[in-house]
Amino acid sequence: MDNNKFVEVKNLRKVYDNGHEAIKNVSFSVKKGDLVCLLGPSGCGKTTILNMLAGLLSPTAGEILFDGKSMVKVAPKDRHIGYVFQNYALYPHMTVLQNVMFPLTVGKNKCSKAEAKKVAQKYMQLTQIMDLADQKPGNLSGGQQQRVAIARALVQEPKILLMDEPLSNLDARLRLKIREEIRSLVKSVGITTLFVTHDQEEALSIGDKIILFNDGVIQQDDLGQNFYLEPNNYFVANFIGNPVIDNFKVIKTDQELRSSQFTIPLALLDASRFKRNLPNGEYILSVRPENITPQKDGFLRVRVDDVELIGRERILKFTYDQGQARSLISLEESIQPGDEITLQLKFNRIFIFTPGGERVY
Ligand SMILES: Nc1ncnc2c1ncn2[C@@H]1O[C@H](COP(=O)(O)OP(=O)(O)OP(=O)(O)O)[C@@H](O)[C@H]1O
Ligand SMILES: [Mg+2]
Repeated sequence: MDNNKFVEVKNLRKVYDNGHEAIKNVSFSVKKGDLVCLLGPSGCGKTTILNMLAGLLSPTAGEILFDGKSMVKVAPKDRHIGYVFQNYALYPHMTVLQNVMFPLTVGKNKCSKAEAKKVAQKYMQLTQIMDLADQKPGNLSGGQQQRVAIARALVQEPKILLMDEPLSNLDARLRLKIREEIRSLVKSVGITTLFVTHDQEEALSIGDKIILFNDGVIQQDDLGQNFYLEPNNYFVANFIGNPVIDNFKVIKTDQELRSSQFTIPLALLDASRFKRNLPNGEYILSVRPENITPQKDGFLRVRVDDVELIGRERILKFTYDQGQARSLISLEESIQPGDEITLQLKFNRIFIFTPGGERVY
């Protein structure tokens, strides 16, 4: 038994009947008791993975192990999984109490009504829905229905909890409140949780780690803090935080990075940030807008087209390089539209990518 690999997925693939390859050779593991967020844009394969973990969908290839045991041939009901579906899927004709009790009253391990009620009430207390016991789901708010769905997923005391965008139907304030509640609930029960979201802020806020997908492939499997500062590639750099400003096509020589606008001596870069020895040639230099600052004698001269005030920050809009509009974030209050300014880069915060998107600095 390896608690670092309580859930383990190896070389998982899913090709749907229509030939679409939704999951391409995906491998990851989840530590016992961790809450891991599966993050990625719509259609990247998040639900497909949860459905394979739950046994509702069979993999085309690959292995799924829970606590070291292969699950691929194990029936869904024997996988000891709780699943909170995106649409909650509550039974409309049953009361809240009946919904939460339901999993305990069916199947070969069913228990007595009295026992089922006792266990249901324990989880209804945890999710704070005791006072809704006699209501029908149709009368509940989205947040209340969501708690019922969580309580129902927990009554069988599953080893693993799968949650598919459980907050997507809630308004912004409720989302904030409930995501904290979910985290403290699953941590207090000690359940290993895979939480699907397409919201980076949600993932950064509650995930012990994040696995970011795009197009059926893992882009980065890491602690939240690393996605912003150390993105693996161009996709990650644009998905997390302010997207990078990316049109500096540069040629690397032995001495410098040269673009049509500027030249940066390699000596100004932090040698320890190079991921490997780079051959000379073409690269893409990218930087987040917050890492470009107006400065006297900066490396790039631009004319400010417009200044937009957003709270404390000022968004400076300018045009350069074949007329491409760009903006950057500044706290500098004296800059006005029409001003000519020069810009400086934070050299230890720039990214350099190969033309194929691999980050090399
Ligand atoms: N039954 C199916 N047959 C064929 N293709 C499917 C099927 N189900 C999903 N897909 C495709 O597989 C890809 C992954 O779908 P999936 O539902 O896993 O994405 P997702 O990441 O959960 O997206 P969302 O954030 O929109 O819920 C998509 O391109 C989708 O169109
Ligand atoms: Mg989905």
